[in-house]
Amino acid sequence: MLGKFITFEGGEGSGKSTQARLLADALAARNIATAMTREPGGSPFAEAMRHVILDPATPPHSPLSEALLFYAARADHLDHVVRPALNDGVWVICDRFIDSTRVYQGVAGGLPGEVIDTLNEMIVSPTLPDLTIILDLPAELGLGRAYARRVDRINPDTEADAYERRDLEFHWRLRGAFQAIAAAEPQRCVLIDAAQDEQEVFAEVWHAVESRLLAAGA
Ligand SMILES: Nc1ncnc2c1ncn2[C@@H]1O[C@H](COP(=O)(O)OP(=O)(O)O)[C@@H](O)[C@H]1O
Ligand SMILES: [Mg+2]
Repeated sequence: MLGKFITFEGGEGSGKSTQARLLADALAARNIATAMTREPGGSPFAEAMRHVILDPATPPHSPLSEALLFYAARADHLDHVVRPALNDGVWVICDRFIDSTRVYQGVAGGLPGEVIDTLNEMIVSPTLPDLTIILDLPAELGLGRAYARRVDRINPDTEADAYERRDLEFHWRLRGAFQAIAAAEPQRCVLIDAAQDEQEVFAEVWHAVESRLLAAGA
């Protein structure tokens, strides 16, 4: 049987990485083989591209060139990591995926939605997520968490990236765009209030996974 494909989406500091880890542990406790991965990145080629895409030193590039880089990385990640795992029956948990492209390059960057639809048909289809968990949080709260995370640990990999440096209005637009995706695709997406504490958020994550993917007949 194919594994299930679960993606986490939401703004900076909304708790995606935290919840992805909690979910991987909970599934492992149920003896479900699980692979955790992330975008941009997730395979050696895509991780190399991640540095190019997120490097704050790179001069601003157009949303189209950015989206094409993301999809080059995504094609490699899907072929080398996601699809082989799903085919082996492993559940794949991915930290950011297609909805981040639609929100960052599409809604915030101005790239027409049809361009992203076409790229999804060419590159992602038929490997769409079985479930997408969208963590919803006021932008300033998320940025505050992301900032606290950086000053907590002195690690060059956690410097503010090009997106984190954008103004608050940009991050409010992102939040609205994630909410709109959740409203438009209720079959695939669950919107969760991420201002709650970690365990409260996780209880809702687990409820979504259990009721939609683990329940009899799911
Ligand atoms: N529900 C929560 N309440 C408070 N802090 C949280 C919560 N979830 C995560 N954090 C903390 O906020 C920071 C960002 O969380 P993280 O999971 O890295 O977010 P993301 O991957 O979405 O950027 C981390 O320091 C993390 O420990
Ligand atoms: Mg993260």
